[in-house]
Amino acid sequence: MLDLMPNENPFQDPLRFERQVPECVIVIFGANGDLTKRKLLPALYRLAFDRRLAAGFAVVGISRTPMSDDQFRDKMRESVEQFSEDTKLDEEVWSAFARGLYYVAGDIGDAGLYQRLNQKLGAIETERHTGGNVLFYLSTQPSQYAEIAHGIGAAGMGKGNGWRRLVVEKPFGHDLASAKELSNRLHEVFDESDVYRIDHYLGKETVQNILAFRFGNGIFEPLWNRRYINHVQITGAESIGVEGRGAYYQEAGALDDMIQNHLLQVMATVAMEPSASFRANSVRDERSKLLRSIRPMTPDEVRQNAVPGQYGPARIGGQDVPGFRQEPGVDPNSQTNTYAAVTFFVDNWRWAGVPFYVRTGKRLAKRVSEIAIQFNSAPLHLFNQDSGDPGVNLLILRIQPEEGISLKFLSKRPGSGMTLRPVSMDFNYGSSFGERSPSAYETLLLDAIVGDPTLYTRQDMVEASWSVVEPIQNVWRETKSEFPNYPAGSWGPAAADVMLARRGHVWRKP
Ligand code: BG6
Repeated sequence: MLDLMPNENPFQDPLRFERQVPECVIVIFGANGDLTKRKLLPALYRLAFDRRLAAGFAVVGISRTPMSDDQFRDKMRESVEQFSEDTKLDEEVWSAFARGLYYVAGDIGDAGLYQRLNQKLGAIETERHTGGNVLFYLSTQPSQYAEIAHGIGAAGMGKGNGWRRLVVEKPFGHDLASAKELSNRLHEVFDESDVYRIDHYLGKETVQNILAFRFGNGIFEPLWNRRYINHVQITGAESIGVEGRGAYYQEAGALDDMIQNHLLQVMATVAMEPSASFRANSVRDERSKLLRSIRPMTPDEVRQNAVPGQYGPARIGGQDVPGFRQEPGVDPNSQTNTYAAVTFFVDNWRWAGVPFYVRTGKRLAKRVSEIAIQFNSAPLHLFNQDSGDPGVNLLILRIQPEEGISLKFLSKRPGSGMTLRPVSMDFNYGSSFGERSPSAYETLLLDAIVGDPTLYTRQDMVEASWSVVEPIQNVWRETKSEFPNYPAGSWGPAAADVMLARRGHVWRKP
């Protein structure tokens, strides 16, 4: 949260969304891209629909394609109509919102673009009284981030009569050195406190709820350690392939695309110590400390504790699905990982010796993200068990698509005698709250507008994640893998099962 006095702590505020939202302009670089269309504009429109934006709120879209303000408005209307999953376009709300949409065409490398943007911001400020507050949102090729920040600085827009903030999409660098270098370049124009590195997983309601679950209740935290927890499985599985992003994905791969950022942030949220308060830096300090406690691996350890995979072609539901190497834009001999499974260890007193198994992949059997916390079984089995499964005490934090929490335990089967059977106690968001959850982008955009960086990652956190991912990257880069090693639609390569079997564990099939 913001660094506020405790009684102003927004986490303790039941009307968190009723925070005072300042007037501002969001400048989106990459306004013609997929993210703007699919996520940013639908989220901003929904915030307008819910009356959460200030009256003068405005957006300036920037990309190379020549377009008038009106053409941009029409294009954005199509995006909102197509990609707002649960919000119908309301003509009255839309027309008020659309009046605040503007567009500037230009090349990132051209100083003239920034001059034109500056003039446009001046005109918008006079027209809509936005108070000089500007949020620059970078959703372009990552290689352009530093250049854009410098363009903004050179045109004098890095400072102004209101606040200036910079939101940066992932990937933030492609290894430790490049992440450091990028931070240095951005800091030439923006202070670290004004740089918001977005990780949309942290904005998901179910990920935020991990903190509520752990630190809002008294009953779980005493068990949350190496004495009671046997191991943890974190899964971010997708059933889709690379969806036309073959060229980007070929460079990134699953390890960089999902584990370095989203899944390590989830792991930090599951494993961090309670923070002294819910002020932004307290929470981020604890996440950061946890990330810094993850043990970086030697090359030998990488070979034991990390498994890369790449999907091959398969026939799923009567349809032929291409392998990764057959996807458009992908090298037919590509060594890119579309699956990654890693065993991490956290070197601190709470977690010493507890494996955290983290896996992600494209074209897996099912789209599901969850955290499964496996507790130790009872020290002695006094009863007959229907299931021989010793891992029955399991807590599952379900991130998506089903959102909720389940606790599995043994119960007596009705009838004479004492035979036990696993049962489940379930909490579901939908049925418990019966109200819509804001999308991650709604939450995060609003947080950036009000200046609340709690759910954004900080330089030290990003660097800590690269420090544990880089040794894996290095070994995988030097090793030629036998790809493809899993068929599309399966649960990944057999080597990932072997990795767990070595410690007597088995992947869940959620
Ligand atoms: C993105 C990755 O950051 O997250 C994508 O680049 C991935 O490859 C996506 O598909 C997953 O997000 P979600 O919210 O659908 O789980």
